[in-house]
Amino acid sequence: MDVDYLRHVGLLEHEAAWDRVSSGPVADVVEVEAADDVTRSRWSPAKLAEQLRLLPVAALFPELCAEVVQILGRWYRRFNLKTWSRIVKVCKGSAHQVPCVLKELNESAPVIMKVRKWVESLPPTAPKACIVDLGAGFGFLSMFLAELLPPERVAKFFLLDMTYPNLGVGNSSGSTSIEHLQGWKFPMYTLKVDLKKKSTLNQLAARVFRAPVSKEDPRYAPVYACGIHLCNTLGIRAAQLFNENADVRGFAFVPCCFPTSRHLTQDVIYQLGEHKFAARDFLDGKKLPSNNDRFLRWAEHVLEGIDPGPSGSKSLERHMLVRPRRGMFAQDIYIFAERPVAPLAQASAGTPGTPEPQPAQRGSPVVIWAKYGHGNRARRKPAGPQAPESGGGSGEKAVMAVLQSLAESAKQPAHDLTCSKIPRWKR
Ligand SMILES: C[S@@+](CC[C@H](N)C(=O)[O-])C[C@H]1O[C@@H](n2cnc3c(N)ncnc32)[C@H](O)[C@@H]1O
Repeated sequence: MDVDYLRHVGLLEHEAAWDRVSSGPVADVVEVEAADDVTRSRWSPAKLAEQLRLLPVAALFPELCAEVVQILGRWYRRFNLKTWSRIVKVCKGSAHQVPCVLKELNESAPVIMKVRKWVESLPPTAPKACIVDLGAGFGFLSMFLAELLPPERVAKFFLLDMTYPNLGVGNSSGSTSIEHLQGWKFPMYTLKVDLKKKSTLNQLAARVFRAPVSKEDPRYAPVYACGIHLCNTLGIRAAQLFNENADVRGFAFVPCCFPTSRHLTQDVIYQLGEHKFAARDFLDGKKLPSNNDRFLRWAEHVLEGIDPGPSGSKSLERHMLVRPRRGMFAQDIYIFAERPVAPLAQASAGTPGTPEPQPAQRGSPVVIWAKYGHGNRARRKPAGPQAPESGGGSGEKAVMAVLQSLAESAKQPAHDLTCSKIPRWKR
């Protein structure tokens, strides 16, 4: 299992080609000993349960919360103080000012419920499912799902994030620890990937979404992909990944924020599936005076571009789980898309080697146009603002180059032009 398994499905042989893929080693299920020092944490399970009762999730998803109280007790016994402290850390400025684990539960509850429903509704003869956590970070969503999903219906988890260490390459370290993702009842594979890269999306399609369930079951696993709290165009990339992979049966997306007003200045145009839309469509302050309106409009555009196929479905749900503070917008939008379960038995019945039904080239740019610079120095591409880039990658690269130069002038790296560094009221 673990790294051997990833090597078996070809994930580790191509690390140079796909941006230093990494894998967290996954041992067989082990009982992790409780560390004595965990008792020093002031956040006992009882105290967490008390806090949980005060959160909106307790009123909206009471049964789930009852299960989570049990889970928290197990985690308290399972993890050492270092991991437990990370789990119960109260992040500065975070919603509700409660320990991370409660915040994440509060905000991911609708996704947890949906994935459970999807897995439960798989036909009994269907192969076991694969859960893919996009931009997984610490991995709270996967950790909850790993506790709640039945092992007889689910084969494995893949957690994808650019901050993971790359265990496929020597002693690589990452800024997000993955030690706590070992020893679960499911294999939890972590991959260090940049989800905005075309090469990554192609490699994921071939090696993760079309990986056999196990050595014993060579069928493809139905994939359920979730992206929780994904910032601006990363969310479009996640939706693109659903659009372009029929093996992804369900997609859950919780947007975190929308692009900054710099995209308005640059007249950015986006494309997701057949749907094109402009930054001004959701950032124009005259038409959409509040950040709440802009956030909703952004999400509606993403929804419009999601293509589950003629017999699939998609929806935008709002769950009042976050009470925004002054000047903030409510992150209460949940997008779901699914492809029907009925054709699943056939589609997934193939063995590896079955011709790939999807286009070989995935991951075309999602930013298809942007003005170079702004103000008097504005220059436009000869093809005009409505003309999409042909071929892969160069349009987005050009935009990134502009963002990079803007960022440099602001003494901040381009990838920081997202929610974590820019106060919401400034966007
Ligand atoms: C706001 S965090 C959300 C983490 C987690 N889903 C949660 O809700 O707790 C966004 C995550 O996306 C990851 N990320 C950002 N850009 C990425 C990219 N281009 N490719 C892969 N991961 C990315 C970040 O490292 C971060 O862990």
